[in-house]
Amino acid sequence: MKKILVPLILASLSVLPSLAAASSSSYAQLLEQISAPPPAAPAPAPKAVPGQRADGRYWVTIAAPDKRSRTRLLEEGFDIVVVSKDRRTVSGIADKALLDRLSSRAVSVLSSRPLADYSSGVSRDFPQADAVYHNYQETTDLLRQLAAKNPDIASVFSIGKTVQGRDIWCLRVNTSVKGNGPSDKPGAFFMGNIHAREHLADEVPLLFASWLMDHRNDPEIKNYISTLDIFIIPMANPDGVEYDIKDGQYQYFRKNMEKNSDGSFGVDLNRNFDSWWCREGASHYPPSDTYCGPKAFSEPESRDIRDFFLAHKNIKTHISYHSYASEILYPYGGSDEDVADPRDKAALVKIADQMAKLTGYTAEKSSALYIATGDSCDWAYATDKVLAFTVELEGDGFYPGPAVIKGTVDRNVKAAVYLLSMTANPYQ
Ligand code: ARG
Ligand code: ZN
Repeated sequence: MKKILVPLILASLSVLPSLAAASSSSYAQLLEQISAPPPAAPAPAPKAVPGQRADGRYWVTIAAPDKRSRTRLLEEGFDIVVVSKDRRTVSGIADKALLDRLSSRAVSVLSSRPLADYSSGVSRDFPQADAVYHNYQETTDLLRQLAAKNPDIASVFSIGKTVQGRDIWCLRVNTSVKGNGPSDKPGAFFMGNIHAREHLADEVPLLFASWLMDHRNDPEIKNYISTLDIFIIPMANPDGVEYDIKDGQYQYFRKNMEKNSDGSFGVDLNRNFDSWWCREGASHYPPSDTYCGPKAFSEPESRDIRDFFLAHKNIKTHISYHSYASEILYPYGGSDEDVADPRDKAALVKIADQMAKLTGYTAEKSSALYIATGDSCDWAYATDKVLAFTVELEGDGFYPGPAVIKGTVDRNVKAAVYLLSMTANPYQ
């Protein structure tokens, strides 16, 4: 969102028109702000890889024509950012040490370019051209505003703290229970941004929350709100997000902010769940982007999410938002196997297919691209039979700019509403 540097006291008075606009919580108004960026913003940078830190990292393309080779690369610590359409090559970010290790093995590195080569020289960080994206404080404020405006149906609570002590906030939509208490109503849980640099994955669940409140009196939505228990955690990894946008320069940071034993930072939270932990498609090497941590659930953020699921056994359906591949993925991701229960399998496939139709994305089993163990959705399904989907949003990079937000949110609101429609009886 637009950054306005005014003394706090002025902000709390909320007298200036610009302040009123900046603090709007209605979906329509939020979108208006998005399509009309602040006039002071610099011209948008070229699409490729804007405004990143050129700290000796490389954009690397590697031949990996089969799933096994892709899984092995993840184990080497290479984060596969893009799988090519023909599925013969993958691209991602590697530091010099990893690039050297890969080049010295039987891995065919097809190309590598310093990330700096992609730099536009134009800063496109949250404070300026991407200012419509919500940082941690703005995300928190918007959740609070939504709850304050809809106190009869919505409340905000923290599911726990991060490594650096930030609260992980959840907006709950439930007509009878507020805060963290139990409910018997069937639950749907939307989570975003477990990976720090995937900022669109905060916008989608956050703006979905705003959309839900705006549409609370539409008969269909009203019915879901009165019969379901809806949880929305738009930013599951706020430490990582804040690090990624620090100094007005994107850091390409994926993990949390754990200080590792070797002095490096970060555990990949989506490899830290206790679902075949660190068996395949994850790395034991602390500096790598796919580092699984010293043990399953070593991280406060993954434990918070685990404990949240365990405290709300009524949760039936779930989406974890990531970016960017335009895919709807269903379990398992950590094994080639299908889920054993044929009824669950049929529901997973049907719901994924339908969400793919509504978004224009591709539905497939999570492990179809590569095997990666320890992800949150596998764990949620294996533990509580939650019908859990990884939605890889669209875009042409981690920092696709403000223009993609509206379309992405609109499409994904449709899929999210469909998931609500399936939550009371997913086997219909
Ligand atoms: N791209 C995300 C990640 O690497 C989602 C992975 C989904 N799970 C899987 N096993 N393919 O964490
Ligand atoms: Zn991700």
